[in-house]
Amino acid sequence: MKTLQQIQQQALLHMEYGRLELGPSVSANPVSSYLDLALYEKEMDGIVKKRPLPWIDSSKVKNVGESYSAEFLGVPIIAVRDEQRKIRVYLNACRHRGAQLKVVKEEQIKLVCPFHGWSYSTNGNPSEIPERQNCFASVSSTAFRLKELPAYEAAGMIWIILSQDEFSFPSAFQQLLEDREELGFLPRHALTEKSFIANFNWKLGVEAFLEVYHFTHAHAPYLAQLQFPNLSISDTQGENCRIVVPLRKPSEDTSLLQWAQVMYFIFPSSFLLFYDDHVALISLLPLSINQTLFRAIPLVPSEASKTDSKIQQKIDFLEVIIGQDIEILEGIQKGLQCKANRLFTFTRLEYLLAKFHQDLHVGLSTQVP
Ligand code: FES
Repeated sequence: MKTLQQIQQQALLHMEYGRLELGPSVSANPVSSYLDLALYEKEMDGIVKKRPLPWIDSSKVKNVGESYSAEFLGVPIIAVRDEQRKIRVYLNACRHRGAQLKVVKEEQIKLVCPFHGWSYSTNGNPSEIPERQNCFASVSSTAFRLKELPAYEAAGMIWIILSQDEFSFPSAFQQLLEDREELGFLPRHALTEKSFIANFNWKLGVEAFLEVYHFTHAHAPYLAQLQFPNLSISDTQGENCRIVVPLRKPSEDTSLLQWAQVMYFIFPSSFLLFYDDHVALISLLPLSINQTLFRAIPLVPSEASKTDSKIQQKIDFLEVIIGQDIEILEGIQKGLQCKANRLFTFTRLEYLLAKFHQDLHVGLSTQVP
């Protein structure tokens, strides 16, 4: 992986010689991959639910004993901050007969079922089962441990794995954590989320964030005057990648975010877009083969920046840009079935799209059945 200093040098060379960063070859992706219901279901179970998805911002469960419960992609989930300040996330279903739990903070923090009164410690083990000695003594209580979802806090958000499978979170966020000093901040608080259902396959949405080729056309007049159109510098780490988009020429005394926007792609469908004063988290959650929950969550580094009008202007601007993308993507979705294209072509500027599809393919083919 390149250091950010190497990226700066590379950006200067590209600018000086008018070069672009190009992939090795033109490639193509079958249009059927956006329409195939069996493939969609495999992607959901084999990829989306097995990789980190941003759920809620950490401040919702900031203090020990605080909890939050909600449905996420149709799954009831409850989070609680335990006595060691670690975030614990469980499927919100009592292991007796499935009722949803509530967190009670008395002498100890417990997750309590309102139906027959079973309660659980924050580590998920049953701590009290009414009439246990009379009617339930022979059953091991560890068999009734709450189902835990792997969870990790990064960039002000709680990220979870819906499938319950083990996952090495630090590897997904490694680039971001290594760049922390150069970035100058990591976000800690979320502002108001904007979310809506977009009528396109989730992969079309991801693709739009993996290339800058469309900027000057789709986002005219706003991005038509980019000083270095079509220039981005990317490097990948496993399935994830970092994309640096130069906005102006770097000089020795400018920090990274003063001359570029930096975006971290957390495979398979999340993007952390760094501005010099905040981060926009974009998450594309598949709801069906042709519907995607589009979430945009501004994340700021401090309480004080919550009311910064400059940040609000950038949030409003991004909303306009996203609106332009959505309109085009919904149009593409409508045309998928008309057979104008059997394949979509990815130019050498769009090589990260080819890699994304390749990673999906590899991820599905290397799964343990
Ligand atoms: S369903 Fe929870 S205690 Fe019975």
